Amino acid sequence: MAKVIAIANQKGGTAKSTTCRNLATALKNKGYKVLVVDCDNQANLTDCFGIVSPEKLDMTLYNLMECVIMEEDLPSKESYIITRENIDVIPASILLSDIEIRLVAAMSREYILKTIIDEIKDDYDYILLDAMPSLGLMTLNVLATSDTLLIPATPEYLSAKGLELLLRTVFKIKKRINKEIEFEGILLTMFDERTNLSQDMLKVIKESYGSNIRVFNTKIPKTVKVGEANARSMSVIEYMPTNKAAIAYEKFTNELVYGEMMNNGKE
Ligand SMILES: Nc1ncnc2c1ncn2[C@@H]1O[C@H](COP(=O)(O)OP(=O)(O)OP(=O)(O)O)[C@@H](O)[C@H]1O
Ligand SMILES: [Mg+2]
Repeated sequence: MAKVIAIANQKGGTAKSTTCRNLATALKNKGYKVLVVDCDNQANLTDCFGIVSPEKLDMTLYNLMECVIMEEDLPSKESYIITRENIDVIPASILLSDIEIRLVAAMSREYILKTIIDEIKDDYDYILLDAMPSLGLMTLNVLATSDTLLIPATPEYLSAKGLELLLRTVFKIKKRINKEIEFEGILLTMFDERTNLSQDMLKVIKESYGSNIRVFNTKIPKTVKVGEANARSMSVIEYMPTNKAAIAYEKFTNELVYGEMMNNGKE
């Protein structure tokens, strides 16, 4: 049965989708069967997999969630899963913007996504859920479905104290909606070793949260190659395997899978 990982942070632009794209590739390269689910109406992850004009597709995440809300049977897996580079994708489109409104009146509204994922969980080793930058009902669905939460965060964000809000939300979820959810850890992205801000924030975060939440030793450096890879609908791992962000994403994946280099403060 798959391990389901939510990749979430209500702050925009912390490299959630980029991390999902690259983690999927690195896991696939290790021989794991991976499904990614785009849970964001911006559909960036869908785009990162080269799925163009998703609004023209018959079946995206919105349609599946709509089926569950309407208590209809889900269609066959083949009708909604798109495979790219041996990674299965459930795409999103702008239609997903309507889901929050649809969810408000739905029965068991926090568990609509879980109903879909539970049906296909046995087919994968890892399922990655790319959340939107909000803590609305859609993100609650993501957290209700997941075994763990991975939090990509940029150094700037950590100083904004927004992390505390996210952690408080997770503790509430753990009490009421999903008792099983655990923290996968905090991944620092767009990290610049040379700046004081990056170093200071790393220290603050380790001091504030390090005893409860793993802070991955691997940090993802800032590099223009990541944007170039995204624009070509590729992971940076495929686009430029020797690039420092590509190497960092592989290293981070090892840390995630094997728990090696546990949080001992060493590189
Ligand atoms: N390591 C990096 N170096 C440089 N640019 C990066 C890096 N990681 C991500 N980016 C760029 O930062 C921007 C935001 O990344 P991404 O879309 O992955 O963030 P996100 O958290 O998913 O955003 P949103 O909250 O809107 O969903 C993108 O333009 C992406 O190309
Ligand atoms: Mg995103």
